[in-house]
Amino acid sequence: MTETKKDLLYEGKAKKVYATTKPDQLIQEFKDSLTAFNAQKKGSFKGKGTVNLKITTCIFNYLAKMGVNSHYLKTIDDQNILVEKLNMIPLEVVVRNFAAGSMSTRLGITEGTLLSKPIVEFYLKKDELGDPLITDDHVVMLKVATVAEIDHLKSCALKINIALKKMFSDIGIDLIDFKIEFGKNKKGEIVLADEISPDSCRLWDKATGEKLDKDRFRRDLGKVEESYHLVCDKILKVWGKH
Ligand SMILES: Nc1ncnc2c1ncn2[C@@H]1O[C@H](COP(=O)(O)OP(=O)(O)OP(=O)(O)O)[C@@H](O)[C@H]1O
Ligand SMILES: [Mg+2]
Repeated sequence: MTETKKDLLYEGKAKKVYATTKPDQLIQEFKDSLTAFNAQKKGSFKGKGTVNLKITTCIFNYLAKMGVNSHYLKTIDDQNILVEKLNMIPLEVVVRNFAAGSMSTRLGITEGTLLSKPIVEFYLKKDELGDPLITDDHVVMLKVATVAEIDHLKSCALKINIALKKMFSDIGIDLIDFKIEFGKNKKGEIVLADEISPDSCRLWDKATGEKLDKDRFRRDLGKVEESYHLVCDKILKVWGKH
């Protein structure tokens, strides 16, 4: 590898982040571990990191063509990518097309109900609080983002949603919802970061309704590994050469 890993800056649940010889570049290593419920439930399968890396980079490449910039710079190997170092905005930005998960529980809407329009939600990234859902006013009050930045995050998230819905629809999968993260680069631009994978999306087979994402692990549905591989194979086959 031409890019050298320097200090381990952060070890998260799904990835390790390393410094490189360049101050504004990082190496993100995708791990084989799988966690849920704020890391109370732990698992793993061999090759999971590679599968998520391949799905993420395939999506980031397509988004770049659709005019959405991400932190992705290049693939180093099966488990490592080079990314632009960002000052992360401590929000999980969630886009929902269908009700599922916490939205269904909170609002009493049956899982799988189509929403009349896509919804964007913000969750504060704070493990000790369990990443609470917060309002736009909370975001501003906490100085996490300005009103103008909130507008930008929402429009960017909705643009990403349109692109992702198309990518998944073309491979026979409904995009139920997904979580993304953003950061700011040294020019102050807001850039899409982290990953987009079955860890961070709800993906349901259009024909059978079968879940093909991390809910298989969260809910002990079995075939976790098979489902991640299926999504990877399908997305690369259709979108890998775009
Ligand atoms: N381009 C980037 N620059 C700096 N940090 C990044 C970048 N992209 C992602 N990150 C951060 O790197 C970490 C990736 O690790 P991982 O996803 O495993 O974390 P995690 O266990 O989910 O914990 P966290 O609650 O911090 O997300 C996350 O904290 C993420 O916000
Ligand atoms: Mg994470």
